[in-house]
Amino acid sequence: MQHEAIPEIQAATTLEALQTVKTKYVGKSGLVTRELGTLGKLPPEERKTRGAEINAVRQAIQEALDTRETTLKREALDAQLASEAIDVTLPGLPLPAGGLHPINRVYDDLTGIYERLGYTVVEGPEVEDEHHNFEALNVPWYHPARDLQDTFWLEDGRLLRTHTSPMQIRYMVDHEPDLKIVVRGKVYRYEATDATHESMFHQLEGLVVGDHINMADLKGTIAEMARGLYGPGAKVRFQPSYYPFVEPGADFAVYWDNPRGESKWLELGGCGMVHPNVFKAVDDLREAQGKERVYEGKTGFAFGLGPERIAMLKYKIPDIRYFYANDPRVIGQFRGELE
Ligand code: DAH
Repeated sequence: MQHEAIPEIQAATTLEALQTVKTKYVGKSGLVTRELGTLGKLPPEERKTRGAEINAVRQAIQEALDTRETTLKREALDAQLASEAIDVTLPGLPLPAGGLHPINRVYDDLTGIYERLGYTVVEGPEVEDEHHNFEALNVPWYHPARDLQDTFWLEDGRLLRTHTSPMQIRYMVDHEPDLKIVVRGKVYRYEATDATHESMFHQLEGLVVGDHINMADLKGTIAEMARGLYGPGAKVRFQPSYYPFVEPGADFAVYWDNPRGESKWLELGGCGMVHPNVFKAVDDLREAQGKERVYEGKTGFAFGLGPERIAMLKYKIPDIRYFYANDPRVIGQFRGELE
């Protein structure tokens, strides 16, 4: 029996096959087991030798089974390890490169310029209350910006911020002067869309507060930004304008000096010296929070501009709606570097 069993054990190439052989010979009703069962029928004098014989066979088979089992298990493990092996020297699969949205590229250019000037970059809530968006910014009730038609109002009386200026208030309530910040973020206006108007767009807001800050500091700062964007020859132009939260207020344009012959004045945004009423509103809010009044008597300037206009010109995007239409053909052009 042993002569049959051993080759069968050797021939088993899987653990399942080996189990079958095991059952056949040494299982509960296996051949060897049954053989042992016949001992009782033998005369006592034969029983002992016969018993020893069968047990020797049984042991030889069991040993062969154990050895084979160890081998098969090791082979299975080796095979598994081989199949799961990772060749760390193989080159990686080429993945399509992602890209930065053109608005984020322009934001990065802008905040880079301001960070080099020592500004802190902050963001704020897009859902605002009327007080921060209008009241504290000295926007009177009769100002057209308050018009129901320009603002997305929420049912609870709050609104989607119509500009990033309310972050001026929030930041000053939480921080004492001196300070230099730029705010980046989305703003919303309830208006008809066309090639240059979207109901959601972006702004970069600047605020500097300290002692003896004046209009020359503001002009120098905007000029520095223009040079950062368009090179050392860039020019800036200011013209008087009205924004309730600044006095005096101005609009500014930068000269976009483009070697392709498309140079032009680009109306970029508004700016001015922080209105005393804004500082007062901040101090009122601070006082209500148990903080010291530290803004009245300070001086500062503020500005706000739209990165969309810069991006449209820089990347030759003719319609502002392309930025947000999620058309991969537009955004797909901004993979990798595209300068
Ligand atoms: N918040 C203004 C707007 O959305 C832009 C602006 C103008 C911001 C003048 C300022 C500023 O900080 O001083 O139209």
